This record gives sequence, structure tokens and C-alpha cells, in this order.
Amino acid sequence: MSKQSVSLETIVALAKRRGFVFPTSSIYGGLANSYDYGPVGVELLRNIRQAWWQSFVTNREDMVGIDSQIILHPDTWVASGHVGSFSDPLVEDLVTHKRYRADHLIEEWAKLGQNSQSLTKAIEDLSLDELTAFIEQHRVLSPDGNPVSAPKAFNLLFETAIGAVSGEKSKTYLRGETAQGIFTNFKNILDSSRVQLPFGVGQLGKSFRNEVTTGQFVFRTLEFEQGEIEYFFNPQQSEWRQLMDEWKRQLWSFVTYQLGINPDHLRWRKHSPAERSHYSLETYDLEYQYSFGWKELWGLAYRTDFDLKQQMTHSGKSLEYVDSQTGDKFIPHVIEPAVGINRIFLMILTDAYSFDASNQRVVLKITPQLAPYKVAVFPLLKNKPELVAAAREIYQHLRSKYPVAWDERGNIGKRYLAQDEIGTPYCVTIDFQTLEDDSVTVRHRDTTQQERVPYNKLIEFLNQQLESTQSGMVLAST
Ligand code: GAP
Repeated sequence: MSKQSVSLETIVALAKRRGFVFPTSSIYGGLANSYDYGPVGVELLRNIRQAWWQSFVTNREDMVGIDSQIILHPDTWVASGHVGSFSDPLVEDLVTHKRYRADHLIEEWAKLGQNSQSLTKAIEDLSLDELTAFIEQHRVLSPDGNPVSAPKAFNLLFETAIGAVSGEKSKTYLRGETAQGIFTNFKNILDSSRVQLPFGVGQLGKSFRNEVTTGQFVFRTLEFEQGEIEYFFNPQQSEWRQLMDEWKRQLWSFVTYQLGINPDHLRWRKHSPAERSHYSLETYDLEYQYSFGWKELWGLAYRTDFDLKQQMTHSGKSLEYVDSQTGDKFIPHVIEPAVGINRIFLMILTDAYSFDASNQRVVLKITPQLAPYKVAVFPLLKNKPELVAAAREIYQHLRSKYPVAWDERGNIGKRYLAQDEIGTPYCVTIDFQTLEDDSVTVRHRDTTQQERVPYNKLIEFLNQQLESTQSGMVLAST
């Protein structure tokens, strides 16, 4: 089965069955575009975050990190332009009153029959008026087959209010991107650290958008996690095109090498001027071929000095940089690589999914660095105390080195299959021979091959195996 033929339904079912992702508030019938991460999913998310932070912050001399609030001063969002122009074109089904994104509705309509020929322009380039004219001319209907209203711009920011007394409450927003917490702290970072241009600031954290398009699982949610970098530079000294190219190489290398994604399922796409966000002079999307099409994984935008200038004007505080050598005072420009951690998560599940027809099993061929568990330990039989005791001892020993799963239920074949589905690279089984010669069986996820390894060489053996599959992995000391 080719990776891209894996349907979203298959991934959603696996994610629920094995504890990666559950629909939020499922006991109440769920909440649209909201998902919770289960015991295995949370480990995968943590590993993605850690890989991102290690590659883009810890391992780089020119980067520092920050953790700003979800609720910022409301003026931040006026200054950034989000209050004025952070919107999607929405239409309303005139019968059911459900709302849809006009561009997504046309995209779905274009996939039907020969309809795609009617599109003379990329959907993302259509203005509000053009979307209206298109819907009218082609009589585009809602998914329920009803006529829809003309599209209207709908702001994506989540409104909330500070204050206990209703009359005194003041309107504010849950952040729509983590980036603004970096811009508003620019001066604090300059004053408190030794950074010098060019340098970047990275942040991982939740952002919120009032998304109405449903059915894309964790790809598009109301609440999601971003990994954003604002890379500041002096436009007189650094050429922005060169910096963009350099970031393009680094993102590509992170996704293919660190995350182990097949490069055939990735491509760069340049935004047209009509599609670009209000703050950007040039934008590229690193797209992944999800089961529902090529979609944005990572955005790379040249935001110029737009944001620092805007925050400076609205706050009245200087966000200028002073060159310590020349004494020049200026507002730096910025390049922004911004990714959704949850989109990385879905990409990994999609890319790693494979069906092994000869063994009739589903295997998640996830790179070991990201695997929720590196090893699983099983006693061959649950009702043999001597096997369970020996296995517990090995389990406790390995646990001090790696995230390790324990399973003693059901037959051994089923236990292997369960670990295959969550991507555990190695299973260690303790059997009667272990009691005689202190050796264990190690079973390899991808090949199902098994080999005997002396217990006192187990950590060394696992380290070697893990090292050969992922050189960037932090290994346990023997
Ligand atoms: N600071 C720039 C910015 O926020 P964006 O392209 O709107 O740019 C950056 O978002 C990344 O955040 C996207 O590339 C995507 O991976 C992720 N993202 C955006 N909206 C999302 C949503 N509703 N659900 C999940 N991830 C989302």
C-alpha cells in the first residue's frame, strides 16, 4: 500500500484505537474541530516538540527561546493587523444555517466531475467579490445541497474578556499566533541577553482560531500548537533571499532527516501576491501530501519590519536595535518559519503508516527518536511468576534509560501487533530460556525478525540499533 493511499479514516481509527487521539468531550457528543491526545499521542507530541526545540533552539548559537502568554494586551492584535484583517471568507447555508469557508466549498465543488475546468484562477487568489461571483455563476451549493449566502469576511480571532463583573469586563483575545509575544518582548530580549543580529527567537505554544471547516482531524483545529521562529536581521548586512533559501534548506532537512519523512511527499509552494498575509513580502509553504491533498505544513514568510514597526507605533515604545559596532539604530527585519506541531503529528502518522500484507499487520514505521516507546518488555506467560519477576527486573532496568512499555496480557503475537501499531521499534520477551542462560528475545518492528541477546548486553545492543536508525537520538548510558 502506498503511503498516500492511507485514508484519513484509517488514521483516525488507528489514533483512537491505540490512544493517540480522542475526539474532545466525546461523552457529550464531541466538540467541532477539537481533539485530545491520549497516553501514546502525548508522548509523540512531546517528542516532536523536543526535536523542534533541540534543532532550532538548543543546538544553535544564534537562537534563544521564550514562553509568552496566550492572552496578551488587546492592543497587540490591533497593532499586528489581526483585528482588522485576520479573516476567512464564510458563507452560510440558507436552510441549515451552517457556515462554511467559501474557498473550501469551491475547492470541494471543483473536485466533483469536470468542475475543476471552471476554475481559471487558483482558489486562494480569489477576492471576496470574485468568490461571490463564482458561487453565483456556478450555483455552488452547501454539502447539504442548499443554496448559500454571499461570502463575508469572518475574523478568526477568539474573543474573550478579562474581569469578573460583566459591565467592567474588557474584551481581549486568545492569541491567533505565538509570534506577537516575540515581537512585544523584542526589547526585553535585547536588554537581558547577549544576542546580536542576526539572531532568532523560538517559541512553542498554543494558538487559537475560530475555524469552521470540519473533517480534517488534527490538521485544522480551534486550538493548536505552533512552533514559531522570528529570525531578526539587518537588511543592510544580510540578503533576505539568501536567508530564506537557508531556512528552506534547514526546514527540509529537519523534516526529512530528523522526522524521517519521505521527501517524495513534500514540496515547496510559493504564495501569489493575492494569497500572501498582510504582513508578508514573500511566503513559501512547505506542503505535505496528506491523505486529503497537498496542504501547508510549515509557512516561511519574510515579514520585513512590519510587526516591530506596528508594535512600536501602537505602544509608543522603541523596538529599535542599536548596532554595538557602528552605533546605527534601526528596526530589524524578520524571517518567520512557523509550523503547527499537530500538523507534524498527523504527517508522521500518515507517512509512517504501512500495512504488511505478508504478516497481516499494521506497522507504524516511525523514526525511533519519535517513537512513544523505544522498547516493550513482555514475560512470555503471565501466570509463571518466575518469568514475570525476571521480566519486571529487566523492565525496571530499561525504564531508567528509555521510555518502555510493559505488556503481559493475551498471547505474545497480539502483544507484538499492538506495539507495531504504536511504532515501538523493539520488543524484548523473557521466556524459559532466559531463566537458563540470561538471554532474551529481541524482536524488530520493521522486519519481525527475532534474535537472542544476552541480558547484560541488552542496553548496548539497543543503543547500537537505535543509533544506526537515528544518529541524532539521545542514547542511554550503559
Ligand atoms: N505566525 C504566522 C502564522 O501563524 P500561519 O500560516 O497562519 O502563520 C503557521 O500558521 C502554522 O500554524 C501553519 O503552517 C500550520 O502548520 C499551523 N496552523 C495554522 N492554523 C492551524 C489550525 N487551525 N490547526 C492546526 N494548525 C494550524
